[in-house]
Amino acid sequence: MTMIVTGGAGFIGANFLFYMRKTHPDTRLICVDKLTYAGNLSTLATVMDDPNFRFVKLDICDRVGVYQLFEEEKPDVVVNFAAESHVDRSIETPEVFLQTNVIGTETLMDACRRYGIQRYHQVSTDEVYGDLPLERPDLFFTEETPLHASSPYSASKASADLLVLAYHRTYGLPVTISRCSNNYGPYQFPEKLIPLMIANALADKPLPIYGRGENVRDWLYVEDHCKAIDAILQKGRVGQVYNVGGHNEMCNIDIVKRICKALDKPENLIVHVEDRKGHDMRYAIDPTKIHRELGWLPETKFGDGLQKTIQWYLDNSKWWQDIISGAYQDYYEKMYGKRAEV
Ligand code: NAD
Ligand code: DAU
Repeated sequence: MTMIVTGGAGFIGANFLFYMRKTHPDTRLICVDKLTYAGNLSTLATVMDDPNFRFVKLDICDRVGVYQLFEEEKPDVVVNFAAESHVDRSIETPEVFLQTNVIGTETLMDACRRYGIQRYHQVSTDEVYGDLPLERPDLFFTEETPLHASSPYSASKASADLLVLAYHRTYGLPVTISRCSNNYGPYQFPEKLIPLMIANALADKPLPIYGRGENVRDWLYVEDHCKAIDAILQKGRVGQVYNVGGHNEMCNIDIVKRICKALDKPENLIVHVEDRKGHDMRYAIDPTKIHRELGWLPETKFGDGLQKTIQWYLDNSKWWQDIISGAYQDYYEKMYGKRAEV
């Protein structure tokens, strides 16, 4: 079995490669990654020399390159993690999100049609459903919830999902889609909430909470997400969407306070800054379908997962220090430098 994993030098893709290496050592894994600011080859150091692993630096929008790779490798399965993934960046520069997240998805699926495939799996997000009101804790996203994206990022992911389902209906492409809630764990780029707060707290820098910090996310440890995708690849029904999440809703301010406590840092590092434009209030997944059909349930409790994550950032400071010592400085200044305190 040969599997192409796109975006494998990023956070979830890399964790998925490690998980697959451990659980399916006979699968030949081809990691395709453009190595944008979010892709980091050092993350893949432990698998790089594995004879059953190949890294290919390639843009998923590069049709000639993608077709050539399919001709060479004749993949059985494609799992598409490659994306521009950060909501704040999508608000600044939407265009690249449309390129990679929509055109890149289309290019990969065209290659799948042309060369044949057993499965194309699209890694999507709960953000395609928009948000839920804070005052209705009884509401959850199901697979039938209408798409109602809020940001250029989520609109691009929703567009890709529509294309994936259209390729199934029109061309009979054997597709599946997973829509997962917020992930956390090792190797997450320190522009996302949890690693950013850990890195800032360790440096005694301000912890910038957007608005009041009441926004709720449904947090899932990254390995649980990897297990869900593996279950969908093995037992999921073609043409189906599976929501992935663990009924673990937390508001941002509580998460940041927990990080302060775990690192023994004062809560007065927290500053409330100007809110994200169009900021979604609450995400909450109903995972009934994947539980009933595939037996998947999250295994890592949030307290344990957060502790493991914090420990990982303490033990692997070189990985993220290298990141924040480079172009990240300009990013940070641009995104947070002019963000007024509220
Ligand atoms: P990430 O930003 O950490 O990694 C994205 C990877 O894709 C990087 O390695 C980057 O170099 C690569 N990439 C970007 N553009 C590319 C292109 N044109 N061609 C090839 N490679 C390219 O993202 P992540 O957090 O690991 O998310 C992975 C996927 O999971 C995304 O599709 C995202 O929408 C989805 N998702 C993420 C979360 C989350 O909480 N992080 C939750 C649900 C779904
Ligand atoms: O729900 C799944 C999505 O989760 C994925 O599709 C996205 O790829 C992933 O980035 C994530 O999106 P969010 O926007 O929810 O994640 P982020 O870590 O950027 O922000 C989490 C919450 O924390 C959100 O309400 C905004 C807030 N926040 C974030 C940052 C970076 C802050 O208050 N301050 C910050 O500095």
